Amino acid sequence: MTGKPAYEPPVLIRHQTGLMNKLGRIAGARPLTEIDGVSIAALVERFGSPLFVFSERTLVARHRELREALAVRLPGARLAWSYKTNSLDAICRVMHREGSLAEVVSESELDRALRLVPGPEVIFNGPFKPEGALEKAFRAGARVHLDHFDELARAEAVARRLAVRPRVAIRVHMALPGIPPWSRFGFNLESGQALDAARRIGAGGVLQLAGLHAHIGTFVQELDAYRQEARQLAGLANVLAREHGVLVDWIDLGGGFASRNALHSQYLPGEQVTPSFAQYAEAIAEGLAALDLPGARAPTILLETGRALVDEAGSLVATVHANKRLPDGRRGVILDTGVNSLFTAFWYRHDVLPAQEFSGTPEPTVLYGPLCMAIDVVRDQLLFPPLAPGDRVVVRNVGAYNVTQWMQFITDRPAVAMISRAGEVGLIRRRESLDTLLAQEEIPGWLGAGR
Ligand SMILES: Cc1ncc(COP(=O)(O)O)c(C=O)c1O
Repeated sequence: MTGKPAYEPPVLIRHQTGLMNKLGRIAGARPLTEIDGVSIAALVERFGSPLFVFSERTLVARHRELREALAVRLPGARLAWSYKTNSLDAICRVMHREGSLAEVVSESELDRALRLVPGPEVIFNGPFKPEGALEKAFRAGARVHLDHFDELARAEAVARRLAVRPRVAIRVHMALPGIPPWSRFGFNLESGQALDAARRIGAGGVLQLAGLHAHIGTFVQELDAYRQEARQLAGLANVLAREHGVLVDWIDLGGGFASRNALHSQYLPGEQVTPSFAQYAEAIAEGLAALDLPGARAPTILLETGRALVDEAGSLVATVHANKRLPDGRRGVILDTGVNSLFTAFWYRHDVLPAQEFSGTPEPTVLYGPLCMAIDVVRDQLLFPPLAPGDRVVVRNVGAYNVTQWMQFITDRPAVAMISRAGEVGLIRRRESLDTLLAQEEIPGWLGAGR
């Protein structure tokens, strides 16, 4: 700082419980002025605010970290990039370049993926696969993971019509320790429904059962749940081999690894409690040790890890619009973006940092977005230094589920930039404008051209 320090008036802060704990950190204690060596001020200058910024370096580092953890414990395992987590072309391209297959859950995502990878590298999940989507998937040679009996029958009808014999998997759900069952997806294991589905595929003689799939939840921190999931899928593969002569080619354990964010309900910061990739891989390997397929080629193990790979690569830069004093004494800060861009604010206690040097006493603060809606809260209850209109903040670890779940409610979606590993900066999605929205709208003739 040059010259005389600015006068800082004393601040009276009403003591409140629940803001700090002796184990946690005080958020906002340090500024974050650069991302991968690129000045945040320069990024905003170039692309405007609010702005999502993705770090290719972090994306690649996380991907490699997971691949290395798998290589040691589950050699030959492959990753499939979960498009719903972040389907921007630039992100998907990095994932595919790093060796990931594509995992999609809708026809729109299927179309997106088929532009980037060959059909056999696409896994088609989800409970809603209309006939046209199945036809497209079968023609492309994608792996279709069946969700329910009606879909199975529909898939058979499509395959018969196309005169093809596609390789499919069945999605399975099961009871697991410490997590709620995601029983609306796939066939139930305990009741024998999954085995029935396998028998039904065999009896139909139209589809080939080539894989098993389960996705047990998201942000799952319980290692034992993965151990058991792997054990149960291995058990099912054993029964299929022994009693039905079906040797599956792949076992897909889905996604769900937690990122280093903290849920609202979580006491400790994410980086202190989230298992490492090595721990997840170890738990899965222990469960898969139950595979008993003597003489057969071991099935390929697939993972559809989403948020744990991309969350840390994404940041959201926002600008302070105004400060106000709330009746309970807290400071309210209005930012230029909120839950419209940051859907995950409903789930996570996001890490938010000032993007410039600051002085002054941190005080209890609520960060609001710009929406005229009471739920538009980016962070409730954090200790934050004084910010002036025009100052910037960075919300960290926002790479997952935001640029797919963001909304256009009363405003447009922000631009998205990426910083390459070499430090180059590029736009990967343009800021929307009124024209983006109006391009989709029509005025029927009977409404006329006037007011
Ligand atoms: C079938 C499937 N696979 C993979 C994922 C990615 O999950 P996550 O981002 O929790 O790793 C999801 C998301 O819920 C999913 O539904």
